[in-house]
Amino acid sequence: MLSRTHQRVIASLSVAALPPFVAPARAQVGETPVVGTHLLHSEILDGTVRKKDVIRFGRALFEAKFNRLDGQGRPAATGNGVPTLRTPDEPAFLRTSGPDANSCFACHNEPRSGGGGDFVANVFVLAQVLDPVTFSIAPSSSNERNSLGMFGSGLIELLGREMTADLQAIRASAISQGQTGGSPVTLPLDTKGVNFGSITGNPDGSVDTSAVVGVSADLILRPFHQKGVVRSVREFTVNAMNHHHGMQAVERFGIGQTGTADFDQDGVLDELTLGDITAATLFQATLAMPGRRIPRDAERRAAAELGEVLFDQIGCADCHKPALVLDDPVFTEPYGLNPGGTFNDVSQAVAFDLTKSPCPKPRPERNADGSVTVRAFTDLKRHDLCDAAPINNEQITYFCNEQLVQGGVPTGLWLTRKLWDVGNSAPYGHRGDLTTITDAILMHGGEARDERDLFVALSQPEKDAIVEFLKTLQVLPEGSGEIVRAD
Ligand code: HEC
Ligand code: HEC
Repeated sequence: MLSRTHQRVIASLSVAALPPFVAPARAQVGETPVVGTHLLHSEILDGTVRKKDVIRFGRALFEAKFNRLDGQGRPAATGNGVPTLRTPDEPAFLRTSGPDANSCFACHNEPRSGGGGDFVANVFVLAQVLDPVTFSIAPSSSNERNSLGMFGSGLIELLGREMTADLQAIRASAISQGQTGGSPVTLPLDTKGVNFGSITGNPDGSVDTSAVVGVSADLILRPFHQKGVVRSVREFTVNAMNHHHGMQAVERFGIGQTGTADFDQDGVLDELTLGDITAATLFQATLAMPGRRIPRDAERRAAAELGEVLFDQIGCADCHKPALVLDDPVFTEPYGLNPGGTFNDVSQAVAFDLTKSPCPKPRPERNADGSVTVRAFTDLKRHDLCDAAPINNEQITYFCNEQLVQGGVPTGLWLTRKLWDVGNSAPYGHRGDLTTITDAILMHGGEARDERDLFVALSQPEKDAIVEFLKTLQVLPEGSGEIVRAD
């Protein structure tokens, strides 16, 4: 026997092209909420709602143009991730502090739903916590960022989880070795071929994290935000729903967390259920991974092949790792290390195998040992691309433009950008104000200065080859294989 919610989910999914997502349980005339029904996490857990429909429901939420009957708007709340009240006299929409869009899809739509966006879809990160708002887009009041695509984000989150587990196990081992031996023990923080400095365990059971590099001192990898400050798609989704739309998730803003079911005082109670956020998360986490679009033209193809070799030879691949091996590609939701205010009860986890249907293709294939190879061209580590002092009279400061510290991470540090979609995710750079791949490469200073200078020293055909190679890395049409040949 199907629950009523389930019947409504299925009914609406079968009648309507998405979006809008309207539950036609009983015909409603006139204005209605765009999201006519809500999912229970338990219905996803016990299989009442099929996996395929969970993803479709999540997509509908991602594309829904929320209205005030859904609870759109947050008159009494800021866009801060930490529930924060404000004086309810600000404009309903504001490009800087938000709410700044009608749907997630409004910014995440290239080349299709779940992708990145144009310069015009930029976000003024941290302006949302400054409500009452500022009308300035100056770098003193926000960090302007270009929107990223979430293709393959389930694989990225899982890599972050496995690397976190490895690093924390090394910490535990440094502590126990320090205690047993009676003197400090320093161990390198290596996971999946990436080094995050080292950690020292002291005989008294304390740790010295001063030599930890590229990750926070708690050793939790945060693979999301170009800054690397968010650990899961779910955490990001709860933040974004509030920031951009004033749609508040019960797990963060509900009665259990804030003492009221209408924290933003817009008259709509319990706007997004646990199940809604689970579905929106799973839609993003199961999105197809990017792949390769190989040119049919022989000259371009030869250039791309040469470019791939050169990319490795001049050291670009040291940060933009062509492959990281993920031991277990089964995406379980939620993540146990989600911070407070983000659902994290793993005893209620639902599992989606990212190598199987209904996760859309292209999806990874398992290696003989059950692992998968993730070709995202990142090390999920933060790096400093700013030159402190001029080199050959040339100081590169492009990537040091920000002034506001986010999540405690120094302004000059950035997560190595995933390049697996760089061929069709223009514009480039965290602000999205670079129009060519070459410009983005030339702006690399600091830790990447040597590699950038080696690029500059290449012949023009060799530079062209690297660009041609990067152009092959693309989000592919849904349903295709990992490699397509096209003009
Ligand atoms: C106004 C444009 C805009 C809207 C609307 C928007 N986003 Fe984003 N999104 C961005 C930008 C810009 C970034 C990159 C932020 C950064 O790097 O600091 C981003 C990043 C993300 C990321 C992290 C991707 C990564 O690889 O790091 C996730 C997940 C995400 N958004 C989910 C959502 C969801 C879910 C919604 C709707 C609830 C949403 N976004 C609405 C612009 C937007
Ligand atoms: C020390 C690590 C490191 C090295 C080495 C490195 N990169 Fe990067 N790369 C980054 C980081 C970090 C970013 C993100 C910068 C930002 O936007 O804030 C980035 C961004 C990029 C981008 C922009 C992508 C986009 O979508 O905006 C391109 C293209 C790129 N790198 C190519 C290269 C090439 C080619 C090389 C070799 C010449 C190289 N990188 C070497 C760390 C590195």
